[in-house]
Amino acid sequence: MDLYYPLGFLLGLLTVGIAIYLITPRRYQSSETVANSYDEWTQDGILEFYWGEHIHLGHYGSPPRKKDFLTAKSDFVHEMAKWGELDQLPRGTTILDVGCGIGGSSRILAKDYGFDVTGVTISPQQVKRAQELTSEGIDAKFKVDDALALSFPNNSFDVVWSIEAGPHMVDKAKYAQEMMRVLKPGGLLVVADWNQRDDRQKPLNFWEKPVMRQLLDQWSHPAFSSIEGFSELIQETGVVEGEVITADWTQETLPSWFDSIWQGIARPQGLIRFGLSGFIKSLREVPTLLLMRLAFGSGLCRFGMFRAVKANSKGQSMQTNTEEMVQA
Ligand SMILES: C[S@@+](CC[C@H](N)C(=O)[O-])C[C@H]1O[C@@H](n2cnc3c(N)ncnc32)[C@H](O)[C@@H]1O
Repeated sequence: MDLYYPLGFLLGLLTVGIAIYLITPRRYQSSETVANSYDEWTQDGILEFYWGEHIHLGHYGSPPRKKDFLTAKSDFVHEMAKWGELDQLPRGTTILDVGCGIGGSSRILAKDYGFDVTGVTISPQQVKRAQELTSEGIDAKFKVDDALALSFPNNSFDVVWSIEAGPHMVDKAKYAQEMMRVLKPGGLLVVADWNQRDDRQKPLNFWEKPVMRQLLDQWSHPAFSSIEGFSELIQETGVVEGEVITADWTQETLPSWFDSIWQGIARPQGLIRFGLSGFIKSLREVPTLLLMRLAFGSGLCRFGMFRAVKANSKGQSMQTNTEEMVQA
């Protein structure tokens, strides 16, 4: 009986969230929408309060186990560094973090691995916040730049790293080409992204199409690639040594969606901090979080990992170069 009151209250809140969601529709328009959305989400501070300095999903282990939400997010960066074999690279390795958010991963890569990191994002407010959060002595710098027209010369970085920026890219081939272009020969590309099922193999059905439409429009996404499709685009840049390696981390990251919603309940101080308008804004995101959970839980969406090495003239990878440096 006692349980009915909190359950009823939560259902009531969900109904309000759905109502706000329905009466304030969103639509992706251009990359300007992306920059404006992130500027706004950064300035009001709500996303940072609940999601911390990482605007990406957490890694809960394999099989997934219960974890603190923010710990799962920083664990994700270390898991990705391990999977991408960045943990074997020497200090001072130069990294470009494409779509760096407010610099959560960049700072970990600089602090814990000793890398020299440059983070770029399309949002000026994110650059400002990333700089504020980066204390002196941490080798991470940030600038506004468009991933589809990077301002760096060819062959600039030892590693190009990107987390969950791909769904915002209107031209996925260009996104792949630009990342490979600025990578040094022998360098490593490591990407983590939200993807949809490859609809060339199994087209989206009657309920998947409208759900996918919502996932795109709600958070400024022009389209999701599939793991297979994006891996082909990387391969088609023509500068990959061997094959693109992929992995599916859907299960490892899946608890993030319910955990995101739980943050709103477990940390009611957000209500005091951001007031009624902040509360309404947060409540508005709950239906999208539930749709994301549905999509990733049902196989409509998949969490993809991508790793590629840029070929160099001698056909050596950066790891081979590093091993040679260590032996010398
Ligand atoms: C989901 S957030 C991920 C942020 C960060 N990688 C992290 O994990 O905390 C997506 C990021 O991609 C950036 N982004 C989207 N489109 C971009 C573009 N065309 N050029 C550069 N950054 C872009 C956004 O500004 C945002 O920082």
